Parts: sequence; C-alpha cells; structure tokens
Amino acid sequence: MKKLQANFKNEFPGVWRAVLGDTAEAAQTLTSFAEVHPKAERLNQFEEVPFPFEEEIIAEQVRDRVVFCTPLNEEEMIFGAGLNYKVININGMVLHLKVDHFEGWDDGRTHAPVPFYISSKGYGVFLNTAHYIDIHVGTAARLGAKKGFQNRDRNTDPNWTVSPIAEYIECSVKDTSGLEVLIFAGKNITEVVQRYNLYCGGGYIPPKWGLGIWYRPHAHYNADQVIDVMDRFTQNDFPIDVVGLEPGWQSRAYPGTFEWDPVRFPDPAGFMDKMTGSNIKVNLWENMYISPEAKIFPKMLPYACSHTVGGGIAPDFSMKEVADILSEQHERDHLSLGVSGYKIDECDGYDFWMWPDHATFPSGHTAEQMRSAYGLLLQKIMTALFRKKNQRTYSLARASNGGSSSFPFVIYNDCYDFDEFLTGVFNAGFIGVAWVPEVRRISNPYDFMRRCQLVAMSPVAMINAWSSGVEPWHFKEVIKQIRDVFQLRRRMLPYLYSAYADYCFHGVPVFRAMAMETQIEVRHSKFQLNDADDHHTLQHSVAIKAQYMMGSCIMVAPISPDKDKCTVTFPEGNWYDFYTGELAGNNSTLEFDKSYEQIPLFVKEGGIVPLLCDDGSIEVRYYGKEPGSFLYFDDDGETFDYEKGNYLLVSLNVSAANGSPKLEVTTIHNGTGAQLPTFRLVAMTKGSK
Ligand code: GAL
Repeated sequence: MKKLQANFKNEFPGVWRAVLGDTAEAAQTLTSFAEVHPKAERLNQFEEVPFPFEEEIIAEQVRDRVVFCTPLNEEEMIFGAGLNYKVININGMVLHLKVDHFEGWDDGRTHAPVPFYISSKGYGVFLNTAHYIDIHVGTAARLGAKKGFQNRDRNTDPNWTVSPIAEYIECSVKDTSGLEVLIFAGKNITEVVQRYNLYCGGGYIPPKWGLGIWYRPHAHYNADQVIDVMDRFTQNDFPIDVVGLEPGWQSRAYPGTFEWDPVRFPDPAGFMDKMTGSNIKVNLWENMYISPEAKIFPKMLPYACSHTVGGGIAPDFSMKEVADILSEQHERDHLSLGVSGYKIDECDGYDFWMWPDHATFPSGHTAEQMRSAYGLLLQKIMTALFRKKNQRTYSLARASNGGSSSFPFVIYNDCYDFDEFLTGVFNAGFIGVAWVPEVRRISNPYDFMRRCQLVAMSPVAMINAWSSGVEPWHFKEVIKQIRDVFQLRRRMLPYLYSAYADYCFHGVPVFRAMAMETQIEVRHSKFQLNDADDHHTLQHSVAIKAQYMMGSCIMVAPISPDKDKCTVTFPEGNWYDFYTGELAGNNSTLEFDKSYEQIPLFVKEGGIVPLLCDDGSIEVRYYGKEPGSFLYFDDDGETFDYEKGNYLLVSLNVSAANGSPKLEVTTIHNGTGAQLPTFRLVAMTKGSK
C-alpha cells in the first residue's frame, strides 16, 4: 500500500479537483470523452462554501488499484452513484459501477453508472474516470478505525446490526493512471447537483415539440401503416407530436444499415414530408452495430472493435474519422429529410452481447473505457450533428454516464416494473441524466391509465407500442382520463419549458427526489429476532419514496396500478391540490385510493404554474397565500439562438395582500423583440379538504 497525495485545489466556488496516482499519464476522463467543459461564468456566480471534509480523506494505491475514501457519519444519507431503480439512498450498499442493462436489483450495473455520489450533508464526489468503479457505502470497516470496534452482542443488544456503519465511503478503481476526483459542495443537495451539472457543461433545453406527446408504432409497420396510425390520432382527437420508428424502417436491423427499407419505406422523402406537414417530428431507432450490407460498412471496417456485436461491427466512436462517417451519412439520409432525433438502443450491453473486456479498439482505448463511454460518445456525436444545423434535438439512449448533463438524451430500458420506473424518474435527477417510464406492455385499461399518468409527468410523454401495436383508443374505458392527462401535459409546456431553462442555465434538475426539497430525517430500525424481519437486512435510512418534484413547485404522487391506495407525504409548509386549489396538507399525509381517477398533483405555498391556452395566452395559476414568483422563459423553441440572447425572460410575481392576489409582469430580457403573451391570473386557493 502506498499513500497518495490528494491535493484538492479550489477551481470554482464550492468545486475542488485533485488527481491521484500516476499524474504523469494523461488519463482519459468521462468529461474528456464527452468533450464537455465547465460553465465557468455560472459556476463563479455561486457563493464560496467551505471544503466539506474536516476529517481525513484517504487516498492510496493498493497494488493496481487506486483507493479513495471520504468520511461518512451516521446522520448522513448518500444518494446517486448510478441510476438506481429500487433504492433512493444508497447507505449500506456495495456498487460495482459498470454500464449494463439493469437486471432487477441495484448493484451498480445500470444504464447510467454515473460515478457521482451526493450526501445530505451538502457535498458530492465525482470520480471522473471511464473505468469500472467499486463503491462501498459504509460497508467496508477498517481495522483500527477511530470509532474502534462496534462490538455488539446479537443475543442481547437491540442496536445490533449485521453490518455496522463504517466510517468511510470507500471507492476503488483498477487503474493507477491519474484518477481525477472532483468534490462539489453547496448549501443543500440541489446546489451540489447544480454545480456538478454546470461543471459537466450545464443542462439543455429540449425543443418544444420534445415536451409534447410521443408514440412509437409497431416495429414492422410500413410507411402507409405509420401514416394511418398518425391519422387515427387526429380522428380520435388525441394529441401527438412525435412518432418514433422502430427497427423496421431500416433495410436491415440487428445489425443495421441505417438506410431506409426500399419495400416498407419506398419514398422516405414523401413520408417525411407527410409527417412534417402534419406537424409530427420523426425519431429513428438505431443500434450502432453495423451490418456488412450497410453502405458505410467498408468505410467503418478499419475502425472496428476486434469483436463483433450482434453480428455487426462496433465502430470506435472515440475517433473523429468514425464520427465523420456516421454524421455525413445521417445528415444526408435522415436529417436533410427532416428527421428530428434518434433512439440509440443497446449501447449498454447486456454482457453476453457486448464485446468482452479483452477486446481492442483502434484508438487504443481499452474495452472497459469504451464500454463506459459508448453511450456518451454517441450522444456527443448526435448532439453535434443537430447543433451544426442550429437545430435542437430531444432523443433517447439506453446508456449514459458521468459528464452527460448537457446532452438532450433520455434513458429507457426493457424492464417494466411500475415502482422501478417511478423511482428512475427522480433518481436520475441526482446524477445529471433523465429517465422515461415509457408505457409499453399493458395488462388492463386501469394499468394503461396509471402508466400514462406517470409518463405524462416525466421527461418524455411516450407510448412505446413497438411490439404490442397498442393504440390509446383501444381502451375505451379510460380514453377520457388518458386524453385529459396528455392534454394537461401539453398545457404545462410553459411551466416545463421554463424549468428546463433553469436546468440549462443553472443546472437545476427538472425532476427531483423529495430529498432535494425537504430536510431528511435519518431513521434506523431496531433489530428484532423474528421470522418477519430478515436479520441480514442492512439497517439503513429510508427516504420518501413514490413521489417527486417536477419543476419549481409541483409535487407528483402517482398512484401505482399495482396498489389499492397511495399515501402522499407532505413536507412542512402548505401544499395545495393542483386541480382544485384546496389545502391538501402540511407536514402530514393524505391517502388516495384507486377510485381517484387523476394523478395526484400538489403545488407548494406561493407556487405559480403557467399553463398554455388554445388562443396562445397564458393562464397563470397561483396557489396559496404567500407572495410567489416564477421566471417564465420563451424562445423560438427549436434553435440555439437563445445562446445569442434571442429569448424572452419574464418575472411573474403574485402579491397576495389582503387576500386578493395581484399579478405583476416584469420583463427581464426580451431579445426576440416579440410581443409578450397575455398572462391571465387564476387564483386557485380554496379552503381545506
Ligand atoms: C429493444 C428496446 C425496445 C425496442 C426494441 C426493438 O432493445 O429496448 O424499446 O426498441 O429493442 O427491437
């Protein structure tokens, strides 16, 4: 064992960086793969905060591993370290971070194993490396630790635990070449995450259409069948903004050609014109393993991985030549016809279908690094492709990693458990990624309704009928409720769009766990020896599950299709029913049973929710008695011109003096020269439920 220097240097207020190990070797980091850079101007606007660790940090080299440990105490809750679907806080867990398809338990193998953990004490640690990482969150206790042995007798002591909380979070990476570690601090968890996001290049604003309604028809449909389904959306008065074509649009898939199939899609330009004419954007499914029959195959072959994936070549997307070949073909065959985005599938593995760890790549990057960065690299290439046209995309990817905060890609997978899908929505907010709980397999109309409600309050309101071919109106019993919630989603555009502007400029995640909203209470259960309690279960703290924050002031509490009721926990402060304006709770709980047909939504005291009306005016809903304010953002909805100042920023302030709320509209910036929309105040507040 060799002690390593951990000289943390202050880079921005509340951001410190150190490189451990052999610093002579220029290590490839996740952010260098992603080619993203800190938003220095924004980071410098934060207040200085003290370095978060008073106790010792451990940095050492043990054979071929670099070990990095930060102190942990019993009152802390730890979050993040990959996209988890079962747990919220990760205390007491051991994670082996690796890009993979989630397999039903949180062990670090996940679609976005972002190596960034955050503490309720107000700090976060980012191990900026594309190597696999082991993280022991208070499970690895050192002989001779300060607190000494936690020597408790299980026979007599109710505080006995199978695994006493260790004094450190211990991380290790099998690579001794310059491990970059970043420490972020902040007044609260949200500020820590904001700094991380801004360090990774800031957030993004989806194009407006991206926040509309998405539908993916059956994978084998031809152009006429897709056009027919889209027509049925109009006939059924059902909102639709994006159609996603699944593998069947390609002449070959698994491995793919990225070329339109001449039989199913004989006239791609005609098809695309039809979609564009109906105001429907087109998203194309791809997995990046190339068929020998693809026209770009010979060009890609010299840059291929030593092993095939799914019978195709896996190009080395870290090389500029490869990015150029792909971009040129995509621009010519897709973007020039109006394609608006992609679904980059299967860049996450499964192990049995990915290249092995001993595979080689022409760039010299290891198979391990390429696995960690494949999804990231593809997101980077696609983002650049659209940016070149001054066009924003909003797309999907099945793998991501640290450093991806600014890439407009949303993660999905092949699992379907409702609770996992829900947990993914807000856990993603800890680590600078986004997750869509897409509606796919439907067991009954009620299930369909609940899943549509959840997805409508998520980053992408999408039904993915790639294998079922299901259409919303197949479920007559619930069509009204489904139409209502998707229409509400569309009306919420000004609210959500402004929230994304906050993400883009200030790094505030749009979908956040309750731990980012409220002080968390750390609870430890007592040990009892009985059949009901598994005595091997680790005693770790619990966070509020099953509800989350969306944008500045809405709390979403979906009702699971698998449960008879849902209990909403209201943090301190007044919370109002979104629909009725009634006071719903304050430091209390409220039950909803399955007969409640809407998705429970609540607005916090002083909350303002701008909603779009059919005539283009904005209904400004105001909840509560205290003064409230909202920063309303708008621009052309599709280009990057906002970066040149072409946007509108308006402060909506509601003062509530004498119980009669008044709206004051103040323009902060009007770079578009456009007329302000009409804002109409609707005071929602009523009495108690
Ligand atoms: C899966 C993907 C599905 C669907 C399918 C098409 O990998 O997760 O959403 O796109 O491929 O074959």
